[in-house]
Amino acid sequence: MHRLSDTEFVQFQRFIFEAAGITLTDAKKALVSGRLAKRLHACQVKSYGEYLSLLGSGLERQTAVDLLTTNETYFFREPKHFQFLRKEITGGSLRGAAPLRVWSAASSTGEEPYSIAMLLSDCLPGQPWDVIGTDISARVLERARAGHYSMERISHFPPGYLQRFCLKGRDSQEGTLLVQRAVRDKVEFQRVNLNEPLPHLGTFDVIFLRNVLIYFSMETKRKVVTRVLSLLKPGGYLFIGHSESLIEVTDAVELISPAIYRKAP
Ligand SMILES: C[S@@+](CC[C@H](N)C(=O)[O-])C[C@H]1O[C@@H](n2cnc3c(N)ncnc32)[C@H](O)[C@@H]1O
Repeated sequence: MHRLSDTEFVQFQRFIFEAAGITLTDAKKALVSGRLAKRLHACQVKSYGEYLSLLGSGLERQTAVDLLTTNETYFFREPKHFQFLRKEITGGSLRGAAPLRVWSAASSTGEEPYSIAMLLSDCLPGQPWDVIGTDISARVLERARAGHYSMERISHFPPGYLQRFCLKGRDSQEGTLLVQRAVRDKVEFQRVNLNEPLPHLGTFDVIFLRNVLIYFSMETKRKVVTRVLSLLKPGGYLFIGHSESLIEVTDAVELISPAIYRKAP
């Protein structure tokens, strides 16, 4: 068992802050040593200090980012957001937007953008729409593209959606679901670091930026939110996590419902 010294921990804090903007508090020391322990073995290094010296270069740097990010998510998380979106698309201010464009800006393993895509397939039959999912972690994006999940993640599915939009695994795939090809093909995944200038993604009617701001310092939150809002159309909606807030982060959007903000039309 390798020991992570306080000095090495500070270097990991600096590494993930510079790479992703993530602030790891001192309470996260056990998490860092636990998540990286296997990599020391895989890379055949004898200490966390030696492992740190590998993080200057491409591949291991991405692996360390993958391991130090928290990717917890599930389908139709915070169902009120999806109810709100349904209402706006079918009868509210987003009715008639063509194509309707939605960005899941920290999409993790894909449950969030696929939930959005299922809702749009349901509400906008035959109409054009785009969903883009982005994340800093290459590992979660790979899992997202596969669209293959454990059935444990289905408790928030709206009635009928599982049958309509997913295939249930049989035999060796028992206990799993595969998002149907028609839905998978509509969602594009891309690696994007929100802590850097954004690539060209176009502009969006709705942006989900949920459960990622909590990992950022106030200064990083401000920069990330400003960047993200530059891609939100006037009159568009920004969703954040229910435990997050934009107080003192920006006044460019107005709070209209819990964790839902709107840019002036
Ligand atoms: C807890 S998950 C949230 C997933 C989903 N939005 C939800 O609410 O269920 C947070 C995600 O943010 C990603 N993340 C962390 N820092 C990031 C950054 N600088 N740029 C892009 N994504 C980042 C992580 O890789 C992780 O997948």
